[in-house]
Amino acid sequence: MYRFFYWLVLSRLPAEGTHRVSFALLRAIAAVPGVRAMLTRALGPRDPELRVHAFGRELAGPLGLAAGFDKDAKGVPALLAVGFGFVEVGTVTAEGQPGNPKPRLFRLPKDRALINRMGFNNDGADAAARRLAHRRGGTVGINIGKTKRVSETEALDDFARSAQALAPLADYLVVNVSSPNTPGLRDLQAVDKLRPLLARVRAACDLASPMRKVPLLVKIAPDLADADVDAIADLALELSLDGIIATNTTIARTNLTTPNPDRYGAGGLSGAPLKARSLEVLRRLRARVGTKLILIAVGGIESADDAWDRIRAGATLVQAYTGFIYGGPLWPKKLQRELAAKVRAAGLQTIEQAVGADCSEASATRTAG
Ligand SMILES: Cc1cc2nc3c(=O)[nH]c(=O)nc-3n(C[C@H](O)[C@H](O)[C@H](O)COP(=O)(O)O)c2cc1C
Repeated sequence: MYRFFYWLVLSRLPAEGTHRVSFALLRAIAAVPGVRAMLTRALGPRDPELRVHAFGRELAGPLGLAAGFDKDAKGVPALLAVGFGFVEVGTVTAEGQPGNPKPRLFRLPKDRALINRMGFNNDGADAAARRLAHRRGGTVGINIGKTKRVSETEALDDFARSAQALAPLADYLVVNVSSPNTPGLRDLQAVDKLRPLLARVRAACDLASPMRKVPLLVKIAPDLADADVDAIADLALELSLDGIIATNTTIARTNLTTPNPDRYGAGGLSGAPLKARSLEVLRRLRARVGTKLILIAVGGIESADDAWDRIRAGATLVQAYTGFIYGGPLWPKKLQRELAAKVRAAGLQTIEQAVGADCSEASATRTAG
């Protein structure tokens, strides 16, 4: 039904406006007394096989909403109520900023993909902190990025400001150095720049939250060369980070059937065309870090099969954005219900037993055992 409604109505409206209106509608529905609890009961993951532990918490399901959907932390309870096991808000920057000129979000329905050059439009770290201060329950990650007007030399201070304001409110904090829409941001993925940045953010988190060590992750681009993926994995181990999120959107325009995709201009491509590379990066990370870090897989996850592939490739958690846009509000429930069936069909008690099951070190252990 959602597919028909999407084709008939939503696909004909401008993409960003549709997002704004649908999200506002969801928030309004969930704000009606009693409705949010009802939605949670109807749509929340309830299969015990899906329970997963990460960041010192138990999540009801492994599917989270990826960063970028709720940049300003305006709708966390509503998004948890439609069945996501966790929500990552942001990217939040230290200063509020308008983002790039519109139009800046485009649908490529033939490819089940989106192109965006939003440019971190958000109200800033203090506004997000005020909203998150009122939240109760659920697992919420906070993704931080660089304010556009800030130069590379001031970037450390800028990230530290966001970390200081937001770390105490985060179940995990993500340093986003991989969005293609802030000039120079992805250059910070170079290890000699990333090392001081992550160390500084770690220090800011510890200062702001002395009693609780806030889990710190880095989110990387699919466009990195394999050697750079390895170098970031090594750095994450060296700095005792808690995890890596792979991947952000790609600047490539490959695997597309939409004619002349260049007409949409610059931006990050998400959805189905990203699937293969995101999985490849995940496999590389797992081979490098083993079980020492939490890996969160994102990029082109559209189905329980996709989520299952990522989990077996070493992801403890998975996230999606584009799959939710094309799948609609019942999609998180459907995916997780089918995922629970896969766990049972594999003869496992919990999805955690499937994490990394396809990796060579897991097979080696099994063979040795
Ligand atoms: C419109 C849009 C905005 C996004 N904004 C952000 C963002 O602010 N920060 C971020 O780390 N990732 C952002 N992303 C990337 C997603 O979090 C995700 O990494 C990427 O879209 C791949 O997943 P998907 O194929 O499931 O969409 C955005 C993606 C889209 C489509």
